[in-house]
Amino acid sequence: MSIENKTLHVALGERSYPIIIGRGCLDRIGLLLQDKLKASRARVVTNETLAPLYLARVQKALESASIASEAFILPDGEPYKNWDQLSHILTWLLETGAERNTPLLALGGGVVGDMAGLASALYQRGMPLVQLPTSLLAQVDSSVGGKTAVNHPLGKNMIGAFHQPSMVLIDIDTLKTLPEREFISGLAEVIKYGAIEDICFFEWLEQNHQRILSRETEALQHIIFESCRIKAKIVGEDERETGIRAWLNFGHTFGHVIETAQGYGVWLHGEAVAMGMGLASRLSVKERGLSEEESARLLALMQACGLPMDIPKIEADVWMRLMRHDKKTRDGQLRFVLLERLGKAVICSGVTDDAVTSLIKKSGKGSIDSATSPALAGFAQNDEVRD
Ligand code: NAD
Ligand code: GLY
Repeated sequence: MSIENKTLHVALGERSYPIIIGRGCLDRIGLLLQDKLKASRARVVTNETLAPLYLARVQKALESASIASEAFILPDGEPYKNWDQLSHILTWLLETGAERNTPLLALGGGVVGDMAGLASALYQRGMPLVQLPTSLLAQVDSSVGGKTAVNHPLGKNMIGAFHQPSMVLIDIDTLKTLPEREFISGLAEVIKYGAIEDICFFEWLEQNHQRILSRETEALQHIIFESCRIKAKIVGEDERETGIRAWLNFGHTFGHVIETAQGYGVWLHGEAVAMGMGLASRLSVKERGLSEEESARLLALMQACGLPMDIPKIEADVWMRLMRHDKKTRDGQLRFVLLERLGKAVICSGVTDDAVTSLIKKSGKGSIDSATSPALAGFAQNDEVRD
């Protein structure tokens, strides 16, 4: 079916940029680059899964607009989102003579987007970045807003920079090849937007989740548009996360622990975030008066979308040590994004360790402890984890 392209704008003064959402729009990347960036050369970063699917198409579109391109192909997966691979990208940019104004295109999911993003922030102190997100998670979240990072063995996304893209081009058709588990994982972030900011969108998701799971084009365009609209509004108000941008981390404080403690790649990011949103909604009932009914609605929607709700068994001391690494921590005090009601998030700093420990203890029996967690393997037993 044909649908019209839709365009949103992230309003950040001279760093403003468009988000274009449509079908088959990867084929227009050459003309768009020529028009917006006056580019005659480009570099593409992708991975070994995406390259056979979409790289030739992107390079053909560039060539047809007389833009010469070269590509770097990363191994696929979260475990490769690290400093070593980032360094390979930077070396390749030098070796291929990329210039400061050469656009770097990130063709892939959030891992490719975050790594190419950080490389583009660092190379010659900053080159233009164009996001071509292909996973649902990247299309609704990671390609927008300018956060770029690699993981460190001691913490996820701990090494990074803010670097806004010059353009985000979202081709919905790429979702046709996205594996089901990845698709469902991306839905966690979509649900997050409704939960933190927009009760009407949340209700729309409750009523239409079957259409989404069937990947109906119009439903997909709607959730991507609404998600990007909400994210663009929040980023436009608080680019550097000094305030409300932290709402976007609803569920992430718990989710990052699940991802890190298990070893990157065991749980998908969205799966871990979904479990984290489940925990955060329970904490919201205790700390902010969210009704039991609304907490249950959030859990029911995530379950109806096929997101896992079984919190893995992680010992309380591992939770606490890893949570202290969270980027929202201030002066050693944990801060959580909680819900006052569905559609209304709030940042909460007065939650006691006892309240968190009691929640965690009720949610799983620990089999991952300080000795077995890959994330804590490098720490002596009594070391304190500090920011
Ligand atoms: P991912 O990049 O690992 O992609 C998931 C898998 O799907 C990979 O195997 C990938 O090769 C494959 N894939 C992607 N698109 C495909 C397609 N169209 N067809 C077939 N296979 C496809 O993971 P993700 O879920 O996209 O992103 C997760 C990452 O994003 C995490 O590292 C997370 O920290 C980061 N993230 C960043 C931000 C941000 O604001 N920068 C926000 C949220 C998440
Ligand atoms: N995904 C969180 C943010 O972009 O701020």
